[in-house]
Amino acid sequence: MSDVTSEQAIGVFDSGLGGISVVRSLMNLLPQEHLIYFGDTARVPYGSKSQETVVRFSHQISSFLLEKQVKMIVVACNTASSVALESLQQKFDVPIVGVIDPGSKAAVKHARTKRIGVIGTASTIRSGAYRSAIRELDSEIEVVDQSCPLLVPLVEEDWPQDAVVEQVLQNYLRTFQQNKPDALILGCTHYPYLKSAIQKVMGQDVHLVDSGEETATEVQNVLVNLNLLNTETGDPGKHKFYVSDFPQKFEETASRFLGRPLENLFKVELEVLESYK
Ligand code: DGL
Repeated sequence: MSDVTSEQAIGVFDSGLGGISVVRSLMNLLPQEHLIYFGDTARVPYGSKSQETVVRFSHQISSFLLEKQVKMIVVACNTASSVALESLQQKFDVPIVGVIDPGSKAAVKHARTKRIGVIGTASTIRSGAYRSAIRELDSEIEVVDQSCPLLVPLVEEDWPQDAVVEQVLQNYLRTFQQNKPDALILGCTHYPYLKSAIQKVMGQDVHLVDSGEETATEVQNVLVNLNLLNTETGDPGKHKFYVSDFPQKFEETASRFLGRPLENLFKVELEVLESYK
């Protein structure tokens, strides 16, 4: 950690494309920071995989990013944050920030009547990571959670405005209708793209928490505290994107999500990735 300088990039990783929502938040809040993104498009989804597998993939990607000299790592994936963050923090010697704590803190601030809802992938919900993080902040808060496995493919297929999405959401979000939460955590990288559809089903009185957006603020705090914020040039940051499969498809969707073309997109062979520990 001793040789780290503020001009080094921030490493960000996700199981695939969804983490681009976190990249978007980072670009908005910290436009001068260089970013190196890794999307594991060959092995997505993580949300239906075992904890051991997601931990192993997360370690490989973190080693890859550290070889690129990143000054910190952001685990944009909620599933990886839920099951792998602690072991990553134990193994690697740079600050590593996940999305669970920032999202939980924001939700607790809005929990007027001490009720919070959480939606995420099956693995995220099974891990209970959000539930524990929230209860640690305030043990009186009632947490209701619901896994929504069909939402990731719907976003990937670019159906956010479709009636099918509304129907699927009606079904999943029924869990929260009896006893409405004050805040609902969008505990998956893909869900911010469905924000307006989710808001419509939940009603305007429920505060939606975008964990990725909250994480960007946490990253800023970490960099300020460590004196690692890139204030050197004032020029906009340069960004590099790595994926483990099908860069063309990634480019198409990621540039749509970011609202600008992707510069510097590279493919990393899976064998290379698997050689990291
Ligand atoms: N990135 C994952 C998450 O935030 C969603 C996609 C997946 O299942 O890999 O949990």
